[in-house]
Amino acid sequence: MEFKLIKGDPLKLKSNVLVIGKFEEESISKTVKKVNEALKGTISQLIEEESYKSVIGKTLNVNTVGKTGSDRILLVGLGKKSEFSPNSLKKVGIAVAKKVKKFASKVIFNLDIEGSKLNSQNLIMGLILGTYEFNKYKSNNDDSSSTTDTKYNFIWSKLNQKDFDNSLQKATGIAEATCFTRDLVNEPPDTMTPTRLGELAKEIADENGLECEIFNNVDIRQKGMGGLYAVSKGSLEDPRFIHLTYKPKKKARKTVAIVGKGITFDSGGLCLKPADYMKTMKMDMGGSAVVLGVMKVISLLKPSVKVHALISASENMTGGGAYKPDDVVTALNGKTIEVVNTDAEGRIVLSDALSYAVNLGVEEIVDLATLTGACIVALGNYTAGVMGNNQLIINKILKAANTVGEKVWQLPMDEELRKDIDSDIADVKNVGSRYGGAITAAMFLENFVDDTPWAHIDIAGPTFIEKGGEFYPKGATGFGVQTILQYLLER
Ligand code: BES
Ligand code: MN
Ligand code: ZN
Repeated sequence: MEFKLIKGDPLKLKSNVLVIGKFEEESISKTVKKVNEALKGTISQLIEEESYKSVIGKTLNVNTVGKTGSDRILLVGLGKKSEFSPNSLKKVGIAVAKKVKKFASKVIFNLDIEGSKLNSQNLIMGLILGTYEFNKYKSNNDDSSSTTDTKYNFIWSKLNQKDFDNSLQKATGIAEATCFTRDLVNEPPDTMTPTRLGELAKEIADENGLECEIFNNVDIRQKGMGGLYAVSKGSLEDPRFIHLTYKPKKKARKTVAIVGKGITFDSGGLCLKPADYMKTMKMDMGGSAVVLGVMKVISLLKPSVKVHALISASENMTGGGAYKPDDVVTALNGKTIEVVNTDAEGRIVLSDALSYAVNLGVEEIVDLATLTGACIVALGNYTAGVMGNNQLIINKILKAANTVGEKVWQLPMDEELRKDIDSDIADVKNVGSRYGGAITAAMFLENFVDDTPWAHIDIAGPTFIEKGGEFYPKGATGFGVQTILQYLLER
């Protein structure tokens, strides 16, 4: 892919596709009008006939039969003008890339929208995200299925080369981080093991000049990370605890920890999942993949906060050494956990990572975890849940998510549910009753953050969408990367 700022007459310039845009409440823009005239009214006629609504990302494809420099015109919906934001252009980029990536080698955009840096950045991000495919394991990569290496050209009013270059650099950074996270989650669990996550973390640290500490099962036990150790015991794969540190060049404004659940496969353990539910459980390391994606571009985006990235990585399996219901395990902060269900393993491995963050003395903690099916029941596949012990930090997450267009919705902590996770023999038990599962999971985690302001994002729904979505590919979405980057940049 290549992205260029160009000037010229959109009707004369040669390309495979000229992309023009239309808002819902507007008649037609300057360029659409000109193109329509050149095509003797075909566009307005098609808008009529197909009762085309310019909802965001909806396209209308017209062959120009040689009447313009471009072979085809793609009219793309920009949504309601009153609801327009740079995010709208991310969606437009995704929609257009999906349409043209199989055949177009040259595409020109002339949307008649103000060429701000953010608009340019979001459009380019969308194009990269919409081009993403995971076909590494398809041996039959013939021409009909693979993507074309498309050159995208942009006609923007009032955008100079320097601002364009800047928007391009940010867009490629953020989109590549998102696609990297998607790759990690899509990768099969036989190769994406805790050991592999550790290797990748080390590579990221080297590329970005980050401090890097990685613990194996012996270190994990010796340090008293009893939760992560217990969950890992049923697997032949060695667990990892990963700690990367980013320090800004200037004095850090704050120190934060971002914590990820890294269960590289969740069979449920001895409380085994039925086959239908076990399928896709390679995605249970989605939180850790977001953390690594963020760290991969952190030295490019340079937030002014110090960031500790912490990951508990393990498989959850049923081997002879597996932890059992009735076991009591002790987390790094000394609290004891009664294991009631071995399938509620995420909160157990996170107990150590959160305690570790507290010991580091960070001022804020944000964790991301594919934690509960209950959160998907509550919010569906496209929205993550956020909970925590401090409304200010939850608000920051909600604001960042809104800015980048990822859907996050707050669920309440509920004191009346706390008794559900009271244990008769230990400090806390790892599951509550059938209802309010996303909330009791968060209330369990709260035991390990002390008084540190903390937000927990349950990304069980949006991390992996088997059938894909209008603006998501099939499988891993990379959900969370953009929200966390935005949150760090706003600190
Ligand atoms: N990794 C799962 C949660 C999950 C389910 C993520 C579906 C994505 C899609 C988690 O470890 C789990 O198994 N949770 C159990 C908890 C229960 C045993 C209290 C669940 O949600 O059923
Ligand atoms: Mn589980
Ligand atoms: Zn899990």
